[in-house]
Order: sequence, then structure tokens, then C-alpha cells
Amino acid sequence: MFLVVGAEGQLGQVFAKHLGDKAVYCTVSDCNITNLAEVKATFSKYKPEVVINCAAYTNVDKAEAEDREICFKVNVDGVKNLAIACNEIDALLIHISTDYIFDGQKTFPYTEDDKTGAINEYGKSKEEAEKVFDELVNKGAIFRASYLYSEFGNNIVKLFKKLLTEREAINTVTDQKVTMTNADRLVEAVIAFIESGAKKEIYNLSSSNELSFYDLAIEMQNILASKCQINPIEYKDYPSKIARPKYSVLDSSKAARELKVELQTWQEGISECLKNL
Ligand SMILES: NC(=O)c1ccc[n+]([C@@H]2O[C@H](COP(=O)([O-])OP(=O)(O)OC[C@H]3O[C@@H](n4cnc5c(N)ncnc54)[C@H](OP(=O)(O)O)[C@@H]3O)[C@@H](O)[C@H]2O)c1
Repeated sequence: MFLVVGAEGQLGQVFAKHLGDKAVYCTVSDCNITNLAEVKATFSKYKPEVVINCAAYTNVDKAEAEDREICFKVNVDGVKNLAIACNEIDALLIHISTDYIFDGQKTFPYTEDDKTGAINEYGKSKEEAEKVFDELVNKGAIFRASYLYSEFGNNIVKLFKKLLTEREAINTVTDQKVTMTNADRLVEAVIAFIESGAKKEIYNLSSSNELSFYDLAIEMQNILASKCQINPIEYKDYPSKIARPKYSVLDSSKAARELKVELQTWQEGISECLKNL
């Protein structure tokens, strides 16, 4: 039996699409992961063999200021509670992390062995959660995603679709390099890990190739036949108060090798996602 926490979020809904009635799905009102007693009570009710943590505080802008405390409470204390409760019932814990744990100073892809060093509060909370996972979890895996997208929830593909269909012109950055994670592929990789019988691992899971948001806008403009004018700008000129890694390309070759998952190019992933929207 699988148990998904944070089931109402984007990734929770993608897990529901793939796992159907093989899992129990808990929203924040069924199981608030910041409340250890509630987590333990939920686990003792359902006795899951695998717990999938889709719960997180994900508003990067608000995490920087007014919501910093709640961000750390959910993303760090929540993971601590899940780890403690999983260990008590010998359950495997799947946790999702992010490319934002890196500082963006590298110029070639980040592997699972690279040093972390988040540069914004959301990233720092996720970095600390990885440490908690490393220290406390007996059985499980961290999957690091980057610009996660699907037909559900809020995500970058939906945002760009909206901008490209509603705006006359947009500015997009050419020199910030990232990879993107198709949530369907992430779920498949998680299931492959669970079936592999491996004990404790960390995986990057993203597209096989890198892109800038300018590349994304141009690709989506072609698919959507949008008339929006796309202006290229540099990272240094993008008006944002929040530091984001300038280079956060993830190397997902470990997952491809060990879990036998086929990595997609971001172009293949975007095209697949837009068909489902
Ligand atoms: N989205 C991305 O681009 C991206 C990129 C890299 C990594 N990730 C990681 O991928 C994972 C899934 O992201 P997502 O896009 O699915 O995020 P999401 O859509 O924001 O979903 C998160 C869910 O967690 C719930 N939640 C918040 N606090 C909770 C609590 N205390 N107890 C239980 N549930 C709680 C939220 O409920 P409410 O909405 O009611 O608060 C929401 O349903 C996260 O770990 C995220 O850090 C995301």
C-alpha cells in the first residue's frame, strides 16, 4: 500500500493518475505533515509500505520574506516528522527535492555528488530537508526535480502558455540554463526505484538536455502558433528580487543507468504536456 501526502498539489495529482487505487491520498486537511501526532495517526490507520511526500511549501517569492517560517516548518520539520513516522513502521519514504539547492556557479551539469549551497530561502529549506533525510531516513529516496510540469496545478508550461496566448510581447532570459522535469517521467522513475528494492538513494530526474526560458518560449510559440513577440534579455536584466541559480542543469544519467528510465528531451516533454492541456 502506498500513501501520498500533499495529494492535492501538482505532483500529488500526477501520482494519482499513475497509481489509482494502489494508493491512499491525503491532503493537508487529512494529514498535515507539520503535526507529528497527526502523521503517526495517519500511518497507523493505513499502515503504508511506501510514503510519497508530495507536500511542500513551494511559493519561492513569499518564502523569501513573509512566509519564511511556514516554508521551513513544512519543508524541513514536515520531512523530519515523515522520517520519524516512516521509521516506526519500517516504511520507505520518497521525498522530492529541487535544483534550487545549488548555487548555480557551475558551468556543467550538477550530479548527485555535487556540493549544495542554496541561494534563496525556499532553496535553503529544501537543502536542509535533504540533510534531515540523510540523517534520519532508514529506507527511501530523494528525487531532485527542476521546473516540474504536468497538466495539473501551477507550473511553468501553463504559465508560458498563458503568457504566449494573452500577451503581445514578453521578455525572456537567454543565459540562465536549466533542465525541466516532466512529472509523468518522475513518477515512473519513483515507481522503478520502489520496484528495484534499493535501500537509500538520491537521484536527479530531469530532461536529457538543457534550455533557457527564451528557448522554451520560442519552442512553445511554434507549437501554439502564438503571435506574441519574444524579446531576449540577459539574466542580469531580469527584474527579480529573489536570487535564482543562473545555471542549475541536472545530470540525470544515474537515474537513467540504475532505474532504466528513458530520459526525454525537454522538447519531447513539452510537446507531450501541451497535448494533455
Ligand atoms: N513545481 C516545481 O517547479 C518544482 C520544481 C522542483 C521541485 N519541486 C518539488 O516537487 C514537489 C511537488 O511540487 P508541486 O509542484 O506538486 O507543489 P504544489 O503544487 O505546491 O503542491 C504542494 C502540496 O503540498 C500541500 N501542503 C502544503 N503544506 C502542507 C502540509 N503542512 N501538510 C500537507 N500538505 C501540505 C499543498 O497544499 P496547499 O496548496 O493547500 O498549501 C499542496 O497541495 C515539492 O517537493 C517541490 O518542492 C517542484
